[in-house]
Amino acid sequence: MYNLLKGKKGIIFGALDEKSIAWITALKCHEEGAEIVLSNAPVAMRMGAINQLAEKINAPVIACDVSSADDVENLIVKTKEHFGGGFDFILHSIGMSLNVRKGKHYTEIDYVHNLKTFEISSMSLHRVLATCMKHDALNEWASVVALSYIAAQRVFPDYNEMADAKSLLESVARSFGYHYGVKKHVRINTVSQSPTRTTAGSGVKGFDGFISYAEKMSPLGNASAEDCANYCVTLFSDLTKMVTMQNLFHDGGFSNTGVTGAVIDQMEK
Ligand code: NAI
Repeated sequence: MYNLLKGKKGIIFGALDEKSIAWITALKCHEEGAEIVLSNAPVAMRMGAINQLAEKINAPVIACDVSSADDVENLIVKTKEHFGGGFDFILHSIGMSLNVRKGKHYTEIDYVHNLKTFEISSMSLHRVLATCMKHDALNEWASVVALSYIAAQRVFPDYNEMADAKSLLESVARSFGYHYGVKKHVRINTVSQSPTRTTAGSGVKGFDGFISYAEKMSPLGNASAEDCANYCVTLFSDLTKMVTMQNLFHDGGFSNTGVTGAVIDQMEK
């Protein structure tokens, strides 16, 4: 422990269970001295696990469906009240694809569901940031991180509409990063994480093959949820204060690898 986040306060969205990247990040941020407000969709909160995390890190839990303007408004106002003022970081660790849930192929998606997917997985980042700006909720040099995946840049056929959702998410991070940077030195980045065994991750068709392929294609192997949490801690800390509007690959080298010896060996079998 380095006390990297001593005195910092933030919101962590998306801790569903102990495998969630957000769950592990909340534990790491707490270890590093941060005070946290946890948030998740009401339906996820009814499953109850988040309360165990809340107890461990002594954090309040505020329900918020990020596709509801009223919920987001309520969350930001209540968080300010709880902290007695502005706060310093946000983790957006939220993803949901309605068409994947309904088993729709990419070429046959339902557009009403598609809009909802974008609203929850991408434009929610905009909504949260716009609401923070309206209430002047983020402190100078605050840091916002949203989690993404390389299907935003390259085709992974079974990632379906989430590929488009992640492209939009990364674009919102860049665009809002400009405006909030100029206004208040707030920095906004996306972290593009290796495939990870979580509830959202396992929803991708053929996930087992997918994760072992990525493992073989990454010189360092796949980055774990814990590695991702550690990286997020550094991004919330003042040690990275000039990093903004970036999509940061956190993938053991996968994104810059054409092929590996391990994959060639497999093909020759
Ligand atoms: P997870 O299933 O534990 O977390 C997803 C969270 O999104 C859940 O807590 C869920 O309740 C929340 N959520 C869904 N709809 C919501 C709504 N309307 N309002 C508020 N919250 C809502 O899975 P994981 O893997 O920890 O996912 C976190 C983020 O990491 C997601 O953005 C995901 O796309 C991203 N990611 C995951 C990878 C993986 O392989 N697991 C790889 C790269 C990125």
